[in-house]
Amino acid sequence: MPERKPLTLHRLRAMHAAGEKLAALTCYDATFARVLDDAGVDVLVVGDSLGMVLQGQPSTLPVSMDEMSYHTACVARGNRTAWIVADLPFGSYHEAPEQAWRNASKLMQAGAHMLKLEGGGWTVPTVRFLVERGIPVCAHLGFTPQSVHALGGFRVQGRDAGAATLRAEAQALVDAGAAILVLELVPAPLARDLSSALPIATIGIGAGTGCSGQVLVLHDMLGITSGKRPRFVRDFMQGAANIDDAVRLYVAEVKSGRYPDDALHSY
Ligand code: KIV
Repeated sequence: MPERKPLTLHRLRAMHAAGEKLAALTCYDATFARVLDDAGVDVLVVGDSLGMVLQGQPSTLPVSMDEMSYHTACVARGNRTAWIVADLPFGSYHEAPEQAWRNASKLMQAGAHMLKLEGGGWTVPTVRFLVERGIPVCAHLGFTPQSVHALGGFRVQGRDAGAATLRAEAQALVDAGAAILVLELVPAPLARDLSSALPIATIGIGAGTGCSGQVLVLHDMLGITSGKRPRFVRDFMQGAANIDDAVRLYVAEVKSGRYPDDALHSY
């Protein structure tokens, strides 16, 4: 296989325009960054899910800016060509756009290419503020784990009347300059509609087959998460000889549209 050129926002937009699905996985360290990059994963998400996956916390809420900077720097050191998206953690962007800027600049200096923040209408001024200052932003709607207590647990969002709110928020985030939108735990028909209506790539997690790309928590797709496995997760180690093969299979299944399967993995 010819060496892949480093992914840029321009190239991601071109892939989306050409109908190529984006394969994303969470990544928290240099070794896995190299493995995922070599296997052809397009987007490495340094997610604050690391609070649960690596630290054994009950939610993402305790994750700090210092921890996010540390893991972003680790991932950046192991990566060569994938696009790195780092999460702004709980409390790091909630006060004001200026606070978000101060924290965003730390993650960009640690090696992120794009930052992700969760939430709808109230984040719009912050998204605009960061984008105007040269920081690519990924928005995150649907189930937003930093609001787990307000949302009453890990529940599907955007059903019934919630669908109209989600559509309006997605459009407002696009208008503010968000370049990618993560849709988490959203009914498949709504995610499909949004993905064809919006000009930017959507990356789904528990949002069905209609998104422009998919993301999973790495440890979930390797089948090593403790506790109940969410419906949308597939264990790619099943039938794979090793981790490299499992990740390559994930990339192939996302790119070909075989994962997810609406009958098995959607709401
Ligand atoms: O924190 C995280 O890992 C995420 C991805 C699953 C999208 O937000």
